[in-house]
Amino acid sequence: YNWNVPRERRAILQLLVKGLRRLEYRGYDSAGLSVDGDENVPAATLNAVSNNTSPSKLQSVRKSVVIKEQGKIDHLEAKINETFTENPDTFDAEVLVGTHCGIAHTRWATHGPPAPRNSHPQTSDSINNEFVVVHNGIITNHRELRAFLTKQGFQFESDTDTEVVPKLAKYLFSRIQGKRMLFRELVVEVMRHLDGAFALIFKSVHYPNELVACKRGSPLILGVGETSSNDDGERDEKRPRLDSSLRSAEYYLSSDAAAVVEHTKRVIVLEEGDIVHLRDGKHGVYHTKRSSNSNDHATLLKRLESGANSPASESTADGNHASAMPLEVVREAQVLRMEVEQIMKGEYDHFMLKEIFEQPDSLLNSMRGRIELSASSVFSHVPTEEIADGTGGPGKKTTPKQVRFNVPSFPRGLDKPRIVLGGLSEHLNTMNRSRRLMFVGCGTSFHAAVAARGFIEEMAEIPVDLQLASDLMDRQCPIFREDTCIFLSQSGETADTLQALRYAKARGALCVGVTNTVGSAIARETDCGVYIHCGAEIGVASTKAYTSQIVVLTMIALAMAANKNDKAARSEEVINALVSLPEIVRKALQLDKHIQSLAKELYEEQSLLVFGRGYNYSTSLEAALKVKELAYMHSEGINAGEMKHGPLALIDSNLPVIVVCTKTDAVYPKMVSVIEQLRARQARLIVLCTEDDEELISQKDKFASLIIVPSSVDILQPVVNIVPLQLLSYHLTVLREFDVDQPRNLAKSVTVT
Ligand code: G6P
Repeated sequence: YNWNVPRERRAILQLLVKGLRRLEYRGYDSAGLSVDGDENVPAATLNAVSNNTSPSKLQSVRKSVVIKEQGKIDHLEAKINETFTENPDTFDAEVLVGTHCGIAHTRWATHGPPAPRNSHPQTSDSINNEFVVVHNGIITNHRELRAFLTKQGFQFESDTDTEVVPKLAKYLFSRIQGKRMLFRELVVEVMRHLDGAFALIFKSVHYPNELVACKRGSPLILGVGETSSNDDGERDEKRPRLDSSLRSAEYYLSSDAAAVVEHTKRVIVLEEGDIVHLRDGKHGVYHTKRSSNSNDHATLLKRLESGANSPASESTADGNHASAMPLEVVREAQVLRMEVEQIMKGEYDHFMLKEIFEQPDSLLNSMRGRIELSASSVFSHVPTEEIADGTGGPGKKTTPKQVRFNVPSFPRGLDKPRIVLGGLSEHLNTMNRSRRLMFVGCGTSFHAAVAARGFIEEMAEIPVDLQLASDLMDRQCPIFREDTCIFLSQSGETADTLQALRYAKARGALCVGVTNTVGSAIARETDCGVYIHCGAEIGVASTKAYTSQIVVLTMIALAMAANKNDKAARSEEVINALVSLPEIVRKALQLDKHIQSLAKELYEEQSLLVFGRGYNYSTSLEAALKVKELAYMHSEGINAGEMKHGPLALIDSNLPVIVVCTKTDAVYPKMVSVIEQLRARQARLIVLCTEDDEELISQKDKFASLIIVPSSVDILQPVVNIVPLQLLSYHLTVLREFDVDQPRNLAKSVTVT
């Protein structure tokens, strides 16, 4: 243990701050971290350590310094620089000698407003910081624990649910003084008393140079560095190897891969009830099951209080401590497919803009390896060199790894085209036999289901039900064994969706996942599924995941209809349209300049309505969501079929109204009539139509604005139509000077219910 070299601490601080920046999209109202400081832990506190630490180590056990700040990571960094005086410009991971542990957290407030006192790490006591903890999730029984710990003399300093965790750790630790207990065993004791969802990381002066993390209900991964001593897997030869005499191991615990990928590609995705113990340059993964009475926290606390059930005194017949003995388990490391460029903005000003412009590539990636064409397939949008070259974004900004669209990259040769979804192949029969197909999601993922519903009904000929995950749970919606439930989630971690999945699974339904995140909870807990493979999405407002979700749902519908002769012609039409889609979207992106000038006309407005129906009801919902969540402008997506039943009352000559009226849709004549009715009331109309729509284009002067998009087939037209509206929300937000990638009060991945 050799920890008084400031440069080493600087290196650790910089690693942590960089990791926080990568995770900032998950929550960004405050942040904090803890590393070992300069002061030694007082002797009185260390008395309790003697059973866990050798005397030589005791000489230099440092206090944990906790630094927290409200707002973005920049604010935290400024505070770190005030706290430590060592030269902030020197970053050199090679200087690290010995073992160093730090923890850090970026917060999305649930309990208690954003404030330094409510930021993490939370501590057992702010004087000695004996136990410091970071937490993702919600401890639902925090009130009972807080009352219990207050009775034991603890003083609470924050409004958070998390604060009970380090205080409980300290309380339980104080009860085992004189008895040997490993750090992970203590954490298991803490876990026994917690209800709710959590991923937790613990650091303690009583266990210097060790970290313990555990998870139940919230995501947690362990990145296994290239020099880890109990690591016998393959190493990445391209990455410069660190001198192993300097560093014996490096580990990164994180809520997601974004914070880890630039250090190592090898990660262990932890399972429910797993505990990771980092100690002596090695990692161990342990597992603990919840005992049947573990929900009876009141009894547990009462027994604790009376001394009848101190953790170390509860022994099994073989003399082991029943609850404090997690079993070691083997968890295989996976290799991340993510590239670090994916989580960088590159030349773009914002992640959102990058992700909008990536859509030709992300859509192609969603289809790659899943489409087989017939020998006779023909395409209306065969790419030319001119199109395929350099249209990666405004000002010809191309992403470093841009994939060129290439029709021949889809194999040909069959007499009819087909869709191959490996993850579903064994389950398609069951899906086709189900009594009902139920799609479940939140936010933009739910909108993707709205977009695909009509086509799925058409191809599967089974009733389709759409459920917002939270609403499904509120209603305790009846679900049966004969149902197939399809869970849509970009992150694969949204707590409401995950809860609905567990609910449906318990009722015997076939559960299918459609997610972007390999190894996520939804991917692991569903019976089967399809990854959307659109690449990492960092902008909080979802864009490319939405369009890829629609494409994947379309492919699922096609796969379900593969053996239906009466659907063959329609299937071929849609498969060919899928293949052309990336090029069509690339063309739609060329509207950027036009949309930017439209945004200039609209950005000072208070409100914006979006009308659509049929397949494009989803477009109206999704466009309105983008505008409200980013530009903080009131916006409503309205099913034009309902226009006469209320919304028409809002119409006057000032309120801007976008009407999605694309000719590919069977409801086109009805939408034309909607436009007529709105015009009769002097509405300020912005019409979105297809480029072959001579009639609407000829009336250009009668509209406030016209957005002309290329056409696809009905089911895929929402993918094209949303592109200019994504761009509109982007430009409105920039003009209104709000934060595009991190809108207030929101988070990318909502892992609490
Ligand atoms: C949050 C995000 C949205 C997202 C929704 C569902 O609200 O800000 O962009 O659509 O969660 O997320 P999921 O990861 O389940 O698709």
